[in-house]
Amino acid sequence: MSDELPTQRQLVLPLLDALEETPKGMTTRDLAGAVAERLGLSDAVREARIEISGQSRSHFRHRLRWAQQIAKFEGLAERSGGAWRLTRKGRDSLTKAVPGQVVTIFTTENGAFLWGLAEDAIGHVDDGSIAAIWTSPPYPLLTQKRYGNPMEAGVSYVDWLTRMVESWLPKLDGDDASVLLNLGDAWMPGMPSISTYQERLIVRLEDRLGLKLAQRFTWWNTSAPPGPTLWTCIRKVRVKQAAETIWWLSRSGHARGDNQRVLVPYADDRPVQVGPRVKRPNGHWMRGHGFERENGGAIPPNVLPIANGSQDRAYFAACRAAGLPVHPARFPADLAKFFIGLTTEQGETVLDPFGGSGTTARVAEDMGRRWVSIEAMREYAEGARLRFAA
Ligand SMILES: C[S@@+](CC[C@H](N)C(=O)[O-])C[C@H]1O[C@@H](n2cnc3c(N)ncnc32)[C@H](O)[C@@H]1O
Repeated sequence: MSDELPTQRQLVLPLLDALEETPKGMTTRDLAGAVAERLGLSDAVREARIEISGQSRSHFRHRLRWAQQIAKFEGLAERSGGAWRLTRKGRDSLTKAVPGQVVTIFTTENGAFLWGLAEDAIGHVDDGSIAAIWTSPPYPLLTQKRYGNPMEAGVSYVDWLTRMVESWLPKLDGDDASVLLNLGDAWMPGMPSISTYQERLIVRLEDRLGLKLAQRFTWWNTSAPPGPTLWTCIRKVRVKQAAETIWWLSRSGHARGDNQRVLVPYADDRPVQVGPRVKRPNGHWMRGHGFERENGGAIPPNVLPIANGSQDRAYFAACRAAGLPVHPARFPADLAKFFIGLTTEQGETVLDPFGGSGTTARVAEDMGRRWVSIEAMREYAEGARLRFAA
């Protein structure tokens, strides 16, 4: 368990993230909930207890209290009137690439990880070279995340992302190449309702850039903690937010895909073919059709139940050893594996313009794909390098 629990130092960044989103301040209790939510900590990790000076204490809360003290000692956060708040210094502790600057942080035989703004670094990607863009853009949080506000004054998130997607299109290797966006819901300020920005974005991408929607997937994060805390746990007026959407787009409307690369194990109760006829689990017999034959696995649905957070122990440990921040908004490797597998063949190239902790890079490398990842924050790019250390 303790392997999954970030160190005191690793908790500092998500702690500052949480404080940044709540400028009026947070109690220690609310802060614990917000940090655990950000890191996708399982209930087991959150609730695990340890013995300290003969008393049983929450291991997570204990570490978080130390992280609060580190943040305070380093002048990043302060406590007054029972509430924790970010200091000015706390708002600037990641090293954001300056406009126009692009640095190669590391390369492998198959890929390159670039530190820079996607707006600039995309210029280093060859036109016509990318089979699939698979990415999770920064979410349109109510206030900006510490890794950067994508919104210039007066320009909405939808406009910003539309412009960004437009800059990617010349890089695609054909009209049937894929653009895959993993987007999460954003809650409206002060009310238990969500923004319709995703729907507006997809309509905009079709109207302005001609991108057609190949399919819409729901990623069900089976380890999502209850949240948002105010509406689910305190007021109890909404249920747990555990789904994100993956929008699969292409220019031609005929996005390349092969479901045979992402087959899943058959359900135990699938109909079994006996000669020309099929016996259904309910005991009824019917005429045999192709779908009952042994095809090496079942065609998966467009709902993907995948836990987040538990697959990254080695990355956590490596960041801990190197004193680097753990990326607070990673997607699971299995999610990346599914979409890279569905939309690309071995040897083709995947681009992740918001590369974060290098999940796409690592999975693409493991799957025999070529890859390019771009990330705006140096510390996250350095953390991604650690996924390749061995
Ligand atoms: C949701 S996270 C992606 C996490 C990634 N999928 C993973 O598994 O680690 C979005 C990332 O985009 C980066 N980012 C934000 N604005 C950017 C920009 N203009 N150019 C490049 N990266 C940017 C953020 O620093 C953040 O790491």
